[in-house]
Amino acid sequence: MQYQSQAVAKPYFIAAIGLFVGQILFGLIIGLQYVVGDFLFPEIPFNVARMVHTNLLIVWLLFGFMGAAYYLVPEEAERELHSPGLAILMFWIFLVAGALTVLGYLLVPYAGLAEMTGNALWPTMGREFLEQPTVTKVGIVIVALAFLFNIGMTILKGRKTVVSLILLIGLVGLALLFLFAFYNPENIVMDKFFWWWVVHLWVEGVWELIMASILAFVLIKTTGVDREVVEKWLYVIIAMAFITGIIGTGHHYYWIGTPEYWQWWGSIFSAMEPIPFFMMTIFAFNMVNRRRRNHPNKAAILWAMGTAVMAFLGAGVWGFLHTLAPVNYFTHGSQITAAHGHMAFYGAYVMIVLTIISYAMPMMNGRKAANSARSQVVEMWSFWLMTVAMVFITLFLTAAGILQVYLQRFSDSPLPFMVTQDKIELFYWLREISGVVFLIGLVLYIASFFVGKDDPEAAITDVEATA
Ligand code: HEM
Ligand code: HEM
Ligand SMILES: [Fe+2]
Repeated sequence: MQYQSQAVAKPYFIAAIGLFVGQILFGLIIGLQYVVGDFLFPEIPFNVARMVHTNLLIVWLLFGFMGAAYYLVPEEAERELHSPGLAILMFWIFLVAGALTVLGYLLVPYAGLAEMTGNALWPTMGREFLEQPTVTKVGIVIVALAFLFNIGMTILKGRKTVVSLILLIGLVGLALLFLFAFYNPENIVMDKFFWWWVVHLWVEGVWELIMASILAFVLIKTTGVDREVVEKWLYVIIAMAFITGIIGTGHHYYWIGTPEYWQWWGSIFSAMEPIPFFMMTIFAFNMVNRRRRNHPNKAAILWAMGTAVMAFLGAGVWGFLHTLAPVNYFTHGSQITAAHGHMAFYGAYVMIVLTIISYAMPMMNGRKAANSARSQVVEMWSFWLMTVAMVFITLFLTAAGILQVYLQRFSDSPLPFMVTQDKIELFYWLREISGVVFLIGLVLYIASFFVGKDDPEAAITDVEATA
């Protein structure tokens, strides 16, 4: 660690992983409820557990992004963080607010939670991913503002690099677009229209900047390739992300009551959305091929390469699969959507956060550059278990989705929704089994930080020595 204040990233990363475990446990609960309908009923109904699953995902990814920024920005800016104290204070505020919100979901019926938190005064609740009570949303904005101030001041007073500026633009965009969570028009077409400005413009817009900059940072550090090369890649990737992703929002406007021209605009522009993801894949392989040093943290490099590949598969390939209006007409809101949602979120954003944690955590734990060889072996096992499990979850859901679309929407004698669901039950069981393997992988990821702690430092080659 080059700067003391980078250490504030550590609690953010630990909280992220803790909440990740919670997310997966709730994923397993709803996965089981799919096949054993009254599992945990009435204690934890499906709609509540689903909300906890998706909200925990978003919250832990935000913890991860903030931790990444607190780690990366001082090193890029070549100075200490503007205010480490503020960063720690915000950590606790965010953690307590997050925990209270999840407890609220679990302990109070949702309508009661809305009443308790004064949703009537400024209604923002009840929409997927944005279910948080309005007060929690206000809390998120306060934490985001303090965070952006802290990061912004550090960059302003220090060295300005393309990597940290792109990260900052991505994070400012994330906060600005979140403000649409407070806009909740009565008209349901308008409501859906702007809901996507948060959800789509996050994952297919500003979050891509965050992902590209973290990926670039880890690759610069581990390969020693010149910044000039990396920066040229970043400019083109970011330009392509915006050119395709902004109008690409139209792929959500096909059937919600918006004008018909969106079927053309949405299809054409979103069909090009895989390009920036593919460029990130090429970029990552290019960097590793041109490497000028052999960094001892092999696990972090594996995560970085894995991110570049899996993001392209999940977002690029599985996104393209159902993005053209004539295809989406049949697949909309089916298990195809869920298959894509899982692999895209995992491949792009889960994996990039695990990459930066894998790279930074050993140094924050007092290692020179990497964990011991034994620890890295365990971590690589966790990489393969989680990644292969997610590939299977995606494949099973895709199979379920194809059957669902055929039986329920395409065949000459379409079946009712629930009859179809009964017929594809097998795939839901297989998804659940893959989910258990995923959890084992996650447990190994955590274990890897405790394994081989006492191995001799000799196991770790000095970065500079091998440069
Ligand atoms: C990492 C980036 C991405 C993530 C995390 C992501 C995630 C998701 C999620 C969670 C949904 C379901 C939303 C809901 O209805 O609740 C969704 C829907 C969709 N995504 Fe993505 N996505 C990404 C990139 C892409 C790309 C690049 C494309 C196109 C090439 C795409 C095409 C679609 C389409 C067409 C839908 C609507 C499906 C439907 O009609 O039911 N996505 N995405
Ligand atoms: C890192 C891993 C995971 C990520 C990123 C993730 C992400 C998501 C997302 C974005 C959704 C909303 C999807 C949509 O509306 O289309 C979702 C729903 C869901 N997830 Fe996960 N999830 C993960 C792991 C799991 C696991 C391990 C299981 C269970 C085995 C699981 C089971 C479910 C179920 C059953 C739903 C509800 C689907 C529905 O409403 O029909 N997830 N997850
Ligand atoms: Fe989208």
